[in-house]
Amino acid sequence: MLTIAISKGRIYDDTLPLLAEAGIIPIDNPKTSRKLILRTNQDDVKLVIIRATDVPTFVEYGAADMGIAGKDVLMEHGAENLYEPLDLGIAKCRMMTATPVNAPEISGRIKVATKYVKTAQRYFAGIGVQAEIIKLYGAMELAPLVGLADCIVDIVETGNTLKANGLVAKELITHISSRLVVNKASMKMKHGIIQPLIDQFEKTIENRH
Ligand code: ATP
Ligand code: PRP
Repeated sequence: MLTIAISKGRIYDDTLPLLAEAGIIPIDNPKTSRKLILRTNQDDVKLVIIRATDVPTFVEYGAADMGIAGKDVLMEHGAENLYEPLDLGIAKCRMMTATPVNAPEISGRIKVATKYVKTAQRYFAGIGVQAEIIKLYGAMELAPLVGLADCIVDIVETGNTLKANGLVAKELITHISSRLVVNKASMKMKHGIIQPLIDQFEKTIENRH
């Protein structure tokens, strides 16, 4: 049995074609079903549908053999206990700092709202800026507008969310895409099914370029 951990939404939607090329087609649909374990057309392959931030945990502990997670999530979780064999090139975006349009330059310690606490800490320490990191779970864009923070660290794709809230992207922290992650023990024990799957995903991605 092979268990693949995946989050609902954009990652699931972008992964379906990759799975289909590998001959794996879910029978249940997470959009219409409340099931958290999805059967597929292959009796020995199932998908578990979890929060994006929980994917590395499921894979690290072997509750799933492999999973698909954004690089942002992996940087926060720490990926040293996982194999990360493939950049799937899906759910592409950038992690950036952003401030209100026309915000004055801050000298000294700045307040940063983000759900990416560790990544933000590392980034500001790396550029020698003293930062107080304020952990939020969403709607980061609101924080500078209500005086909670001077700036945010968040995902930017089109920039529409920033623009709609009077913010502007400043520094690029890193480019983000989703990665295939594999449990270390599964990679050994189930090499015969996992490696061909990785190879097939790789081929599909190459054919897209
Ligand atoms: P959770 O549901 O656990 O709060 P989430 O809301 O970040 O997580 P999604 O919005 O489905 O979950 O995002 C999954 C991944 O997709 C993120 O980890 C990130 O790598 C990427 N992502 C997030 N926002 C965008 C975006 N606007 N455009 C492209 N990719 C994005
Ligand atoms: C993400 C991110 C930004 C937005 C950026 O939110 O947190 O708010 O996308 O995309 P844009 O630059 O194209 O506007 P998401 O759509 O995942 O909503 P959520 O964080 O509430 O899940």
